[in-house]
Amino acid sequence: MAKKKSGGIAFRCSSCGYSQPKWLGRCPSCGEWNTFEEQFVEAAAAPGFAPAVGAVRSVDEAHPIPLEQVEAQSTARITTGISEFDRVLGGGAVQRSAVLIGGEPGIGKSTLLLQAAAATGQHVLYVSGEESAGQIRGRADRLNVPLKNIELLCTNSVENIEKVLNAVHPLVVIIDSVQTLFSPQAGSIPGTINQLKYCANELVQWVKERDAVLFLTAHVTKEGVIAGPKVLEHMVDTVISFERNEDDVRFLRALKNRFGSVDELGIFRMDEKGLAAVQDPAALFIIQRQGELPAGSATVPIFEGSRVFMVEIQALTVPAKGAMTRVFSDKVDSARVSRVAAVLEKRIGLRFSDQDIYINVAGGIRLREPAIDLALALALYSARTDIPAQKTQAFIGELSLAGEIRPVRRLKPLIKTAQGLGFSKLYVPAASGDTEDGEVDMRGVTRVDNLGEVIKRVFSPGT
Ligand code: TYD
Ligand code: MG
Repeated sequence: MAKKKSGGIAFRCSSCGYSQPKWLGRCPSCGEWNTFEEQFVEAAAAPGFAPAVGAVRSVDEAHPIPLEQVEAQSTARITTGISEFDRVLGGGAVQRSAVLIGGEPGIGKSTLLLQAAAATGQHVLYVSGEESAGQIRGRADRLNVPLKNIELLCTNSVENIEKVLNAVHPLVVIIDSVQTLFSPQAGSIPGTINQLKYCANELVQWVKERDAVLFLTAHVTKEGVIAGPKVLEHMVDTVISFERNEDDVRFLRALKNRFGSVDELGIFRMDEKGLAAVQDPAALFIIQRQGELPAGSATVPIFEGSRVFMVEIQALTVPAKGAMTRVFSDKVDSARVSRVAAVLEKRIGLRFSDQDIYINVAGGIRLREPAIDLALALALYSARTDIPAQKTQAFIGELSLAGEIRPVRRLKPLIKTAQGLGFSKLYVPAASGDTEDGEVDMRGVTRVDNLGEVIKRVFSPGT
């Protein structure tokens, strides 16, 4: 006898979606109070996270189809008309995809998307749950952008949005912001994680079935967590973070991209006409000085995606107050700093194990490439000995624990960019073979194979 499916009552947390058979005052999953709501479920639900209503939807879930017969999804792209934005997306936004853009309030999410809406030239539906139509028109006038292709909808209701989508069929859908969406289908309390998931999912499903692109903005807190929106990251194809540094340069960076690399950086400044791409960004992160370089600084050219930037690494060492020493470094991984300091101590005989170390990177860019090791070592050495390097010197290379300088990939463009910006004395790994075809001017380029040799050449030439 077939077992009869039993329906029943379950209690589901309206904040995080955790469900379980009994009512509780406090959710054991997210710790929120009084969030359990009674719900009828089709089969007795096991405790845990129930999928959002409507979360699973596909053509035929019960029957497999031969992969051979499946038509590949086209990856045709819609250009946003803003080259720095397209670069981060991987060459434009892929049709049938969803892009989440997170950033703190005031960073320029609405500005960027309105500029993109105008520049793309495609039929755009711009949905705002935060601002009035008049406010958005005001921004558009300030930006002085063409408006003909943009339709505006001011609502928080997902059902309204769906109705309009089905009536006007836009090619680009902008939701500003996803946190303002609401649907009675997902419980009665606005702003919960459940609401967020349900509403986002409805819209993501809509674009998946059409040739459109969905852009969702989301506010994130200063600490950088996409609070709430974190749960959306797996639902969308691309997650982009919008950040700024102390000099108010704004960066777009993909944290996840199903259709492109996550290494490309989009760089903007906000002026009275909105966001403008930074011209000649290679020199953006170096400090222009009249006099000599202070002790503790060393410069390195790095790749960020397909472009080369010069960056200045700054180090400071001070005797530790207690028995424990510490490394303060948020732009370079602290473990890397400790490792390079250990190599200096062991191979060069310069003591770091009783020092607190501070590392900073001018311009606030995060450095993850191993090729920064040599410059980091030089900055540390210079900080500890108080002997400055020269302004025209730059250092490229990864360090082994033995103090050898390991080759780096794509050395030629690094050398070219550094030279173009006036760095006439470059120290590069001896073992890199890709500079031999004469395209690069090797005057002033010294090939080195161990740290001791570089330190000697830089800090005590002539000995
Ligand atoms: P906004 O795009 O509203 O940020 P978000 O949507 O991320 O909250 O605006 C960002 C800031 O930029 C806001 O403080 C006003 C300023 N701004 C300019 O400086 N120039 C401009 O042309 C515009 C439109 C805004
Ligand atoms: Mg906004």
